[in-house]
Amino acid sequence: MKGRALRVPRSRGEETRLLLRGLGCLRTDLEVGEDAQGLLFPIVGDRTPPEGLGEVTEAEFVVSVPRGPQDYRDLLEWPPSELAHLPRSFDVVGDIVLIRLPTELEAQGPQIGAALLKFVPGARLVGQDRGVLGPERRRQVVRLAGSGPWTTRHRENNLALDVDLEGAYFSPRLAREHARVAAEIRPGDRVYDLCCGVGPFALTIARDGRAVEVVGIDANPVAIQCLRATLARHRFRTRVEVVEDQLDHFVVDRAPFERVVFNLPLEGIKYLASVGKLVSRAGRLFYYEVVERDAVSRRPGELIDRLGGSSEWALGESRTVHPYSPTADLVAFTFERSRG
Ligand SMILES: C[S@@+](CC[C@H](N)C(=O)[O-])C[C@H]1O[C@@H](n2cnc3c(N)ncnc32)[C@H](O)[C@@H]1O
Repeated sequence: MKGRALRVPRSRGEETRLLLRGLGCLRTDLEVGEDAQGLLFPIVGDRTPPEGLGEVTEAEFVVSVPRGPQDYRDLLEWPPSELAHLPRSFDVVGDIVLIRLPTELEAQGPQIGAALLKFVPGARLVGQDRGVLGPERRRQVVRLAGSGPWTTRHRENNLALDVDLEGAYFSPRLAREHARVAAEIRPGDRVYDLCCGVGPFALTIARDGRAVEVVGIDANPVAIQCLRATLARHRFRTRVEVVEDQLDHFVVDRAPFERVVFNLPLEGIKYLASVGKLVSRAGRLFYYEVVERDAVSRRPGELIDRLGGSSEWALGESRTVHPYSPTADLVAFTFERSRG
């Protein structure tokens, strides 16, 4: 069907959509179209979009099939200038939704929470995510909408994990990492998951079935309790040892294993030399660190020096997992120990 259209560059699609919607200029009975020069927004016949926003033209549109809101922000009747500051993304952990908010929007938290609670299917509780703190990396969460505890059961990589979002670290953004490392385990390997938290690495590895023994260790009793609760529901628990301990104490008398996972991205460097000794000859260490972007190229060499030098260690792979701050990324390093 033909209609009035506003053509804008693809890069400005989201801001234009919010603005047109806020001004009541956007037709919702037609789908947004596109051509070689950009996106085509269907606009209401008698409304003129603001000067300079794009080119007003005519275009052929597809009639939309009626459906619910496509974005939680569609549920908020806010002026476009305020909507534009709202984050587009949020995390879903089990039946809990977590969103990071800029300080200037904290006062509107309950409204945002109510919109998310309505928008996300199956959501029970919405919290503001204020980041993780302290050695146990506990998440600072503020209830915005909904009810019930911060404990939930989260499904990732076809595994249901018990988590306590307030009491122990867990990030749904690492699901691909948990699966990637698990895929590197060979039949017969023994695996340490150091600073295992609620155990997503240890559990995925044990569930996959190739490791003969998996040991998960963490100092946070809440994390250990969650890991034990997940294990209690699975037969593969017989291959997993769970240890509540401080890492520097744990490393003292443990025999080396073929695979070691070590995810303590800000403080892990303090323990790296002793953790390296837990990796057997020809074994691998999966190590995570927050690295400033301008230091990424020299970091593997520095880490190898900490581990004991290039005669014994080599970098297998390094990959960016996700941005951590405006200047730094969370980086996954795989180090290989020589045969000796
Ligand atoms: C970033 S979290 C990683 C959790 C888990 N590996 C994951 O990927 O979800 C770091 C974990 O290290 C634990 N931790 C921090 N310092 C520790 C120490 N000195 N000894 C043992 N565990 C420690 C914290 O309790 C926390 O669960």
